[in-house]
Amino acid sequence: MNLNQQIEQWLSACRENFPIRQRPFVTLAYAQSWDGSIAHQAGESLALSGDEAHQLTHQLRTLHDGILVGVGTILADNPRLTARAWTGPNPQPVVLDSRLRVPMTAQLFKHPDHEPWIFTTHPGKPGLAERARLFSLPPDEQGYVPLVSTLEILWEQGISSLMVEGGSRVITNFLKTGSANALILTIAPRFIGGYNATGDLGSHLLDKLPKLNALHSAPLGEDQIVWGTLDNAGGQR
Ligand SMILES: NC(=O)c1ccc[n+]([C@@H]2O[C@H](COP(=O)([O-])OP(=O)(O)OC[C@H]3O[C@@H](n4cnc5c(N)ncnc54)[C@H](OP(=O)(O)O)[C@@H]3O)[C@@H](O)[C@H]2O)c1
Repeated sequence: MNLNQQIEQWLSACRENFPIRQRPFVTLAYAQSWDGSIAHQAGESLALSGDEAHQLTHQLRTLHDGILVGVGTILADNPRLTARAWTGPNPQPVVLDSRLRVPMTAQLFKHPDHEPWIFTTHPGKPGLAERARLFSLPPDEQGYVPLVSTLEILWEQGISSLMVEGGSRVITNFLKTGSANALILTIAPRFIGGYNATGDLGSHLLDKLPKLNALHSAPLGEDQIVWGTLDNAGGQR
């Protein structure tokens, strides 16, 4: 069994063992340098994964019902969020965008088979409702789109598995709120000294932050893949 098959089997087993909680099973999947950077600086795009890890990312996309990123990633990378480097269904694209900063020219709006879903705290923007489905929610204490309600709505809309690709603010909030269930990390053999994958996780929460369980690791092309489940014993907050 090759690594792609191994990770696919592992993910499927994790999902089967996930107790139903009226929210999707969430996989954090992103690429970082050895020193934990995902970009030189916030807002800049940086390709970190080799070809094989890039393909794995697209394979993972086909294995989830939805794929979620923050608007910072849309502005920096302008991703298509499709699974074009693998054979399988495209997940439903989901964006967290409190202030509706997503540009109307974003690649996301040219998606071949899904209208993007945008979770916002804003009432709307002219022309956007024709190109995307908007979910307007009251802001959380940071002024952001509230994660727990977002996950509940995604579940109600039929999303039972969600891949979260970033960026840093989004990853940080998924960890802080105990909302992620698995991690699949690509570690590129480079030092960047740049923008870290996680920001301030809140020192007062230290004993409540998730712990990595049953961690696995294997090389894939020039990269190292590390994967495991997240134990949110501190509970979802
Ligand atoms: N290496 C990788 O795998 C990878 C993957 C993805 C991204 N990236 C990089 O990461 C960088 C972008 O990261 P980023 O931290 O600047 O932005 P981000 O995490 O993509 O998006 C953060 C923004 O999303 C909005 N948001 C709304 N609700 C949120 C919530 N509950 N939690 C968090 N954010 C919420 C906020 O903007 P508003 O207040 O305007 O709503 C927030 O500033 C780029 O440089 C990109 O290239 C790397």
